Parts: sequence; C-alpha cells; structure tokens
Amino acid sequence: MAKAQMMFPAGFRWGTATAAYQVEGHNTHSDWWAWEQVDGRILHNHKAGQASNWWANAEADLDAAAHMGTNAHRLSLEWSRIEPEPSVFDQNALDRYRQILQALHDRGIEPMVTLHHFSNPLWLVEKGDFNSQIVVSYFQRYTAKVVAALGDLIPLWITINEPMVYMFMRYLVGAFPAPQKKGLLAGMEAVKHMLLCHAAAYHTIKDSYPAAQVGVAKNFPVFQAKPGSYFPARWWAGQVNFWFNELWMQAMVNGRLRTFIGSTPIANLAGSFDFVGVNYYTRFYVKFPPLGGFYDPSWGPEAVVSDGHYGEVYPAGLYQVIQNALNYHKPIYITENGLPDEDDDLRPSFILTHLREVWRAISFCYPVMGYYHWSLVDNFEWDRGWTQRFGLISLDPETQARDMRPSGRLYRDICHLNGISSEMAAQYTPALLATMFPGESPQSPAWQG
Ligand code: BGC
Repeated sequence: MAKAQMMFPAGFRWGTATAAYQVEGHNTHSDWWAWEQVDGRILHNHKAGQASNWWANAEADLDAAAHMGTNAHRLSLEWSRIEPEPSVFDQNALDRYRQILQALHDRGIEPMVTLHHFSNPLWLVEKGDFNSQIVVSYFQRYTAKVVAALGDLIPLWITINEPMVYMFMRYLVGAFPAPQKKGLLAGMEAVKHMLLCHAAAYHTIKDSYPAAQVGVAKNFPVFQAKPGSYFPARWWAGQVNFWFNELWMQAMVNGRLRTFIGSTPIANLAGSFDFVGVNYYTRFYVKFPPLGGFYDPSWGPEAVVSDGHYGEVYPAGLYQVIQNALNYHKPIYITENGLPDEDDDLRPSFILTHLREVWRAISFCYPVMGYYHWSLVDNFEWDRGWTQRFGLISLDPETQARDMRPSGRLYRDICHLNGISSEMAAQYTPALLATMFPGESPQSPAWQG
C-alpha cells in the first residue's frame, strides 16, 4: 500500500522557539529574577536558576536542533543582560549573543530574534516601564544597539512577544512581575506605549536593514461561547475576541488604537509590520457573565486537555486563526505552537494534527512561511515554574540531563521529509491513522480488498 504524504513547499521553515529568560539562566538583572525570590509567586516556589543553561552552552541544544533537521529557530534577547544599568551596555553580552547567532547560521538554522519577551530590566520597572512614555526612547535605543551589534546576522525580527498576554498577565491577573500601576486603564496605557515601542523599533531596524522582515508574535486564542449558549454569551465572546485578538492588529494596520471612548492616533505605526507572527495554543470557552474569570475551564467530555489544565488540544483552531490572519494581507509565520506534556503521550498527535491544519492552509495558497514549535527543550515556564514541560527534548533542570522525546524524533522525521506521512502516524501515534489518513488504515475499504 502506497504511503500517503502531505508535503510542504520547498524552503518552508521548520523551526523551534525559545525565549531568553526561560532558557538562559541567571538573568539576575531582570524583573523576573527579583519577582521569583518571593515565595508564593511561582508555583511550588520554583526558580529559573540556570534554566536550560543556554548562556553557558546554547550550542548543545542547537546541535540537537540541527540533528533534527530544523532550518529555523526563534530566540529572544534579554534586554536586562544587554543593558543591565540605564545607559550601560554590556559588550560581553552582545558578543555572546553574536556567538549564539553565528552558531545558528553555522548549523544552517535561520534565526528569528525577539527583542522583548515578557521580561524587563529591573531599572526600567523603577522608571515606570510601559506606563511611562520614556520607555519608547529607551526601547528605541536598545534596539539601535542590537541592530548595530547583531543586525547583520538577523533576517527576521519580532519586536514584542504577545503584547496582550503580557498586558493581561501583568495588569489584570497579577501573575507576572508587577508594574507600578495595575488595572485595566493602566494596562491600556501600557498597550499604547508598547505600540509606540513597536513602531520605533520597526523603523530603527528597517532604516539600517531595509530587507529585514519585522513583525510581532501575537497570541491568537480561539474564543467561543459554549455550544448552545444564548446571545449574551455569543456577544461577549465577540467582545473578548475583539479586545484580545483584533485591537492590536487593527492598530498596526491603520495606526489608531481603539479605546473605550473612541480612538487615538499612534505615530509611525500604520503598516509597520512585514508579517504576522501567529502564536497558537488553544481554544477558550468564554463565560458570561464573566464573574470569577472570563473563561470556563470545563472543556466538555470529549476534550483532550494538556498537563496542568493548560488548555484543550484544538487543532482546527489553528486553521481558523490562519484564515483570520489573512485579513492583514501579509505573510504568516506560526511563531509558537505546542503544549505541556511531560510524558509525551499527546505531543506526537498534537504535532501531526496541527501540521495538517497548516498544510490545509498552504494547499489553499495561504502564505504560511514557517512553523516554530514551542519548544525545543523544556524550560522555565514563567509563573508555572518547572511544572509544565513543552520541550521536544526533556530536561532535568538539576542535572541538566537531556533526552529526545519521541515527539522530537517525529519532528526530526517531519523536517527531513519536509512533510507529514501516514508512516509517521503509524509509528508515533497509531490511533490517529484511521482519522488522519483513512485510506491507509487497516479499517479502510481499500485495505479490506
Ligand atoms: C509564551 C511562552 C510560553 C508559552 C507556553 C507563550 O504564551 O510566549 O513564553 O512559554 O506560551 O505557555
């Protein structure tokens, strides 16, 4: 019986993704480092510590990424390392980043670099960070330093990772290191300043490297009212979708930020993105009225839910958010997609079913240029510490022992084939064969003669 394959276009980026604070270790000038020291803030009072030891030896995991056959990797720079004190730039830190970026190029892996991924220099927080307009000139100056020192090695840039998640977790939930002010109004003010930072960084990069591609990584959850809900819940789901998913994107398109009472212009913002970075993890059922939380974590009897009730495995949502991203008329990169799954019983089918959605989108000529799996290796999962493991490679943070998970071997096979196949389903997740490749399953009529 011929094997079935879903092939991807030549040059498709097969990537993995990480963030500086989560993998480097000992980022002692970051607001996260100070935040972690107080008991009760991180689950089980876990600490990032040496994290995945990338500051000392990112190369070990980059060797594994090369062995897997990946050709792309998304990583971030830690601002607090590069500028540990205001106006004091650390040349050794820039040199080390240069080494890591060069190590990626040497392995045939194209870097995509994020300038801000959830972590701030402590000194910036003292100055009010995103609640003070001054952050814009600081961010612009930091970007200029990075461009001058490393720009020749960076073809793809993300200015800010998941601005709305950052706003939500910091200003509304309070699970991320505290800003000086809190609440919705302060959060919206921060969004405005993040947009200004994005615009400033975009133009700073493009002035020196016009061919560089610059965007943001935007988390796009699917928000839905539970099936059978009445109108108020459906209306509310639409509202949540607008404020969380659309607001930021619309501002980048037309240069105006919607507010509760109108809209406000943001200088140099309109059109300041070359691609849409889609981070996709899950679907949320939105609850109305939103008392005691805006979403309903009871997923329903059929739902497959990942470790720590992180979220429902919902591959169709990836196709939905890609379709939605077409509205912005730019190339699309799946800049994060993954799940916490320590024993790896869900990840192989998660990868295959999500990639099938990417393949479907590409089959309709949607411009999806690459897929970056979160994550290459287990890393420090913010307020959830080490309780959730997203890696294709498992890590014991104490001993630093690593092991390729079966899903890592599956991803290796995918990168080498440049596609997914029924053989992979048969080998890594046989239960999926009948639904994903019906013609290849022993239950199919073709098999039965
Ligand atoms: C963030 C990552 C995080 C991942 C898994 C994303 O929202 O960008 O930093 O580790 O989700 O929770």
